Amino acid sequence: MGYLVFSCSLNPESRSLVLARRAAEHLREKGVEADLVDLCELDLPACDGGACYNDPKVEQLCGRIESAQGTLIATPVYNFDVCASAKNLIELTGAPWTKKVVGFLCAASGRASYMSVMGLANSLMLDFRSVIIPRFVYAEADTFEGDAITDPVVEERLDELAETLILFSEALQNYSSPEAE
Ligand SMILES: Cc1cc2nc3c(=O)[nH]c(=O)nc-3n(C[C@H](O)[C@H](O)[C@H](O)COP(=O)(O)O)c2cc1C
Repeated sequence: MGYLVFSCSLNPESRSLVLARRAAEHLREKGVEADLVDLCELDLPACDGGACYNDPKVEQLCGRIESAQGTLIATPVYNFDVCASAKNLIELTGAPWTKKVVGFLCAASGRASYMSVMGLANSLMLDFRSVIIPRFVYAEADTFEGDAITDPVVEERLDELAETLILFSEALQNYSSPEAE
């Protein structure tokens, strides 16, 4: 068991991937296992509500989510929402998100899209009773210089999110175990 950090951007020069990498590092610095799952590398099918569920990559991903202790989702903000590949990830995997603790990391161009993760957060809560960490990381374009995070407030938020993920996941271990179904 360990933690999973999903990077959902399909842009190889992604800024949310930078956030995801740093969050995984923060988790490891706190003494837990954390794996980065970069959707750029997975080439997942688009959800068709049918045959996609038999794809071995989807089945394997479901197993990894099922056994994860807690999860983070890093996503670009597209059109005041998460990107389509983040939503596709949830559509493809579904039930394993049941009662998981989920935190968000977002990269956006400006501050106006701050509430863009709420649609996905609501669906995870209502569909799967996922426990959403209410304080998330939101990084605007000027947070980054290349692959470096130059805004200390965002660094602090990343550290706080990693700490809260561990705190919530450990506290809710009995709630989220499959036996508690
Ligand atoms: C199709 C598209 C839609 C976007 N919509 C928004 C938006 O609604 N709000 C915003 O602040 N930025 C928006 N952006 C900017 C991205 O959020 C920004 O470039 C971010 O860094 C992308 O994440 P990534 O670097 O991890 O791929 C949009 C970008 C694209 C390509």
